[in-house]
Amino acid sequence: MRTEVYVVSRDSEEWTEEDRDKIDSAAALIRNGHPVAIPTETVYGLAANALHAHAVEQIFAVKGRPADNPLIVHVGEQAQVNELAEPLSQVEQRLIELFWPGPLTLVLKAKPAAIPDVVRAGLDTVAVRQPKHPVALAIIRASGVPLAAPSANLSGRPSPTKAEHVLDDFLGNIAAVVDGGPTADGIESTVVRYMDDALYILRAGTITAEMLMEAVGSVCRVISEEDVVCSATPRSPGVKYTHYAPRGEMTVVDLPDQAQRIEWIQRTMREAALTGHKTGLLTFADDAPFYRELVDVVLVAGVRSEPEQLAEVLYDCLRRFDREQVTFIVAEACPAKQVGAAVMNRLLKAAGGRMVRDV
Ligand code: TXA
Ligand code: MG
Repeated sequence: MRTEVYVVSRDSEEWTEEDRDKIDSAAALIRNGHPVAIPTETVYGLAANALHAHAVEQIFAVKGRPADNPLIVHVGEQAQVNELAEPLSQVEQRLIELFWPGPLTLVLKAKPAAIPDVVRAGLDTVAVRQPKHPVALAIIRASGVPLAAPSANLSGRPSPTKAEHVLDDFLGNIAAVVDGGPTADGIESTVVRYMDDALYILRAGTITAEMLMEAVGSVCRVISEEDVVCSATPRSPGVKYTHYAPRGEMTVVDLPDQAQRIEWIQRTMREAALTGHKTGLLTFADDAPFYRELVDVVLVAGVRSEPEQLAEVLYDCLRRFDREQVTFIVAEACPAKQVGAAVMNRLLKAAGGRMVRDV
């Protein structure tokens, strides 16, 4: 299959007639049942008509995604949610008013007849969000239907934050990718579910627990992913799968003392090189100079105190290690506060839980 690449500026004020034609072409492919990769403010999504079971089945096939992992439905207008879900609670309405369009996904009680089973993986709930990216909104509106879209990566691989990442995974296997430039947030949306007077954060993201507390904390409890201990609490089916993983063996190092951290990383990298590994390090600007001579691929993710900077480049860095065929990776932890909590969650999943906290 030929994969069309439609380059469209992120800024809708710059759109020419030609840009609008590209958006219409992407929407036409979607209407005809073909999944198309589109940019959102979080990561690229592989989008298909959410009301068309056969189109959605193709997403699962192309990604190699397990059938029990449901998809997020993307709407162009807030009112569209009423066609997909049962009437909203006040908490849900408030969250939509405050955070849509934007990187917040709500898991809602579905109107089952309105959405094919395959989208929901047979659950009685449906996950919905209105993305903020102008290109995503324009494509949803031009298609005239809600779009089911998981991240546009092969299952298990790091999510795509650039069109080239999508092409790495899907060139020749999807009809088109709309290239709207690098995504702004870099990590996937926050997923929440309101149930029994509590708001459960099923997946952390750039809409942080602190922001949700401020929004609805006065009327309900806000429960973070890390606090979910009891099996009766709601979960996202996706959390049980390996995620975001680079091909090399990865370890997260969380040693707040700089001297101790540098010593550990230098020693570990020397040992890895001696056993024949190609080494890679994901570090911050302040520490990078200590490793230049010692590590094969050193990637710098801004400054330690600004986890937004790490979020933005994280998946690109993980994919870069793969491109450079790095077999042994160390990534430095960031402070797990606010967006840092979501970033640490991705880092730990990419590392399969391997973390060093003391020496
Ligand atoms: O930012 C994002 O959310 C991106 C962009 C493209 O919108 N999408 C994305 O989709 O990350 P995906 O499929 O990679 O992750 C969706 C997550 C999975 O963990 C899935 O299990 C969960 O949302 N999810 C979807 N529907 C659900 C439901 N009905 N109940 C619980 N969790 C659900
Ligand atoms: Mg994904």
